[in-house]
Order: sequence, then structure tokens, then C-alpha cells
Amino acid sequence: MSEELIPETPEQETEGNEAAEPIKQRKNGLYPGVSDELAENMKSGWADTELRDLEPIAQAEHTAARRAALSARFPGERLVIPAGNLKTRSNDTEYAFRPSTEYAYLTGDRTHDGVLVLEPTGASGHEATIYLLPRSDRENGEFWLDGQGELWVGRRHSLTEAEQLLGIPAKDVREVAAALAEATGPCRAVRGHDAGIEAALADKVTAERDEELRVYLSEARLVKDAFEITELQKACDATARGFEDVVKSLDKAEATSERFIEGTFFLRARIEGNDIGYGSICAAGPHATTLHWVRNDGAVRAGELLLLDAGVETNDLYTADVTRTLPINGTFTPLQRKIYDAVYEAQEAGIAAVKPGADFRDFHDASQRVLAEKLVEWGLLGDLSVEKVLELGLQRRWTLHGTGHMLGMDVHDCAAARTEAYVNGVLEPGVCLTVEPGLYFQADDLTVPEEYRGIGVRIEDDILVTEDGNRNLSDKLPRQADEVEAWMARLKG
Ligand code: GLY
Ligand code: MN
Ligand code: MN
Repeated sequence: MSEELIPETPEQETEGNEAAEPIKQRKNGLYPGVSDELAENMKSGWADTELRDLEPIAQAEHTAARRAALSARFPGERLVIPAGNLKTRSNDTEYAFRPSTEYAYLTGDRTHDGVLVLEPTGASGHEATIYLLPRSDRENGEFWLDGQGELWVGRRHSLTEAEQLLGIPAKDVREVAAALAEATGPCRAVRGHDAGIEAALADKVTAERDEELRVYLSEARLVKDAFEITELQKACDATARGFEDVVKSLDKAEATSERFIEGTFFLRARIEGNDIGYGSICAAGPHATTLHWVRNDGAVRAGELLLLDAGVETNDLYTADVTRTLPINGTFTPLQRKIYDAVYEAQEAGIAAVKPGADFRDFHDASQRVLAEKLVEWGLLGDLSVEKVLELGLQRRWTLHGTGHMLGMDVHDCAAARTEAYVNGVLEPGVCLTVEPGLYFQADDLTVPEEYRGIGVRIEDDILVTEDGNRNLSDKLPRQADEVEAWMARLKG
């Protein structure tokens, strides 16, 4: 942005600005350096761009059902769910905005500063209002003189447009703090996203009751509705294309670094979706043994493995979470393949254990058993039996993490759900989870033969529980070693 395009900062005085106060304060109706003539000139001569008769967004009926379920759980209480605000990256630039998961889940809206309020209508039922930033005011100069004016950041929906799109009555967000501060009666809010809203509600909410709301909204997302399942499939399909992009450009990564892989996948995420759903793990060679390797600044060498853990987040904010471990030159060495095959077998056992009625823990136990058997077979655990290894958990030196987690809008979805609903829960159709066993031999692990050191393998797929078993949403990417090699050969040409 060139210097002359930066709007001058209005002086911090407020006197005389009773009506139509813009977001940032101005002096006596004028900004410094703006003549009366220019201010007057900028007020008019603009076409009416109001959009009329808009169709509701695709998920409007689903967000309505989600709000109805929330309403039934908390009758007679005001519920406040903020989107969150822009966060400064440096000086006057901000991080890309992503609304809070709770807000997006209940509204389908993705703009910053929004607040959903469910106002109780009596002993049961609620009336929803969404508070949003409206179109910029042209009378007071906000649209071209304020940093968040539409001339700078782009046109927003009018409140009437937003109402039609979201199916929720909309009001100006600049009224929400006062409305909440004045309101009486029981109230709960989702915390952690909007300090201004929290300040307005400070004497009306308690941490304990707010936590119950957060837990409810986490558990409500354990079983995905039809819209969510379609989104997760879209996320997985786009992710598969991103992995193909990476394989096709591995020679360029070899000439540069893991960053080329990160950038290649990110391009796909931005073309097909909103973003990546989490920091891409582009771990070549021994970096594969670091579970959350996101520095991605290492060398990519033929003969080594690439562990790529990445997911596209759709425009409606559902993410895939997929890992493939690939031989960089297209062919596994015998040892790499031995370790890969063990992880593949563990993943097959894990996926087979995902079905309605199964315990959530079953797939983890099934995968861990296979890995323990392999580690014993390879002589890495002395004379211990598989049962003893599992009892003592000794395989975990090399398996390191749980075998999977819920997946949805958050990559580690439903994280506030109670233990009895999640970790100790039972699977049912509509649950979506990852199955992602791995084996990791650290470069400095003296307890394994030298040739194992620096090898890390994980295979991760996104599995939907169905009425009669499961469906692998990420099955467009091959997993079996021969199929991986054939796929890579085809893509590398
Ligand atoms: N990408 C983080 C995970 O697999 O859980
Ligand atoms: Mn992952
Ligand atoms: Mn995962």
C-alpha cells in the first residue's frame, strides 16, 4: 500500500458528533485535511447497489435447526455467541479473519465483529438476532475515511441483505453492547472471542455457566448433519488435489526446501477453499519424527520420506486432516516399506473398528495392538510379550500420540465435549474422526538399530461413521504402498 493511500488518522475528539458517529472518532464532523467541499462531494453520486430477493445460503435450514436445539437446551436464558474481532498482525495490518467456530456453526456468517443473540421469548423458545457491521455510512464520511470503511475493505452486505441470506433478523452491531448491558435476566456467553462483549456482560454471566454453553456447543457438533458431511467430503477432495499438486512438484521442493511443499498445498487451499485448516506439516527426512513440524524449512532429499499432514478448509470452514508418508523419489526402500506396511496394517485395523455402536476407544486399541506386535516382532522390546507391552504402554515410545480425534470445523473438533460424550463415548452414524497411527524413530534414539533412526511414518484418513460401518472420505488418495508408488509414478510422469 503506498503512503498516499493510507487514510489520515482522525484526531481523538468526540465533541459535537451526536448523530451517526462512525466507528473511528472524527473532529467536528470533518477529518483533518478534508475540505468541506470534498466531504460534501463524496456524499453523493453513488448508485443504489442494494441486492434484493436474495436466496438463503445453502446451510440456512441447518443453522436454524442448530439454533433450535440450542434454544431447547437453555430455555429462558439469553445466549450470546460472538464471531470475534480482527487481530493486529503488525501496526495497521491484520491477520486473516476466521470467525469463532460456535458463531459460524449457528449462523453460517463469516464476517468479523458479528454477534448472535438468542433472546428468550418466555419459558421456552428464543428469538434470534444477528448483530453485524452494516454498510458504511456515506453521510459522515465513514465509507472512505475509516480504515474499515467499505471503500478500503470492500462492500459488506446491508443488514437487509444479511437477513435474507442468513435467515436471521439483523441489527447494527454498534447497538449490541448497550443492548446487552441494559438487559436483565439469566444470560450465558461464549468466551474468548470478543473482549468488548465480555466487558458488557461482566456482571451478568458466570464462568461456570458459560462453560456449560461451550460444552453444549462442542457436543452438538459430535454428530454431523447432511450439510457438514458434504463439506467434509469437499474438504477431503480438495485436499487430495493438493497432495497431487505436491507430488507433481517434488522436484522443485528438492531444489528448494519443504517451504515449496507448504506453498504448493496452500495455493490449492486458497483456490478451492478458505484456507488451510491448520499449519501444514511438511516434514522431510528426520523431521517426520517431530509431530507438529511446521517450520518447514528443511531440505527435501531423494531417498528419504516426506510426511505431509495437511488439510484444506472449505469456504464454510470445514477442514480435512490427512497425512501421507511418501518416498520422495517415488520408491520405498525395503526398511521404509517395512515400517510403512506396519503402520498401514495398524490403520486398516483401526478403520475396521470404526462403526456404529463401537466404543470411541476401540480404533485406537486396535491400531496400537498391531503396532505393538510389529515392534515386538522386530526385537525392539526384548523378550516382552505383546500383552505385557500393551499393559505397560511401552510401544508409546514410538507411537507417541492417540490414533485419532473428532474432525469438523476445528481440526481437533468437539474439544470441549465431556469425557463421557467423547473419549468414553460410543460411535454413531454422522460422527467423523481421523484414524492416524504412526511410528516415529527419533534420530537420536539409541534403543533402535541405526538404520531406523530418523524415520517417521504416519497415515491419516478421515472416516465417517455410517449406518452400517464407515466411509473413508479421503480415499481418493492411495494408502497401500504399491498403490502409492504407482500413483506417484503417474503424477511425476
Ligand atoms: N494435523 C494434526 C493432527 O493430525 O492431529
Ligand atoms: Mn493431521
Ligand atoms: Mn489428525
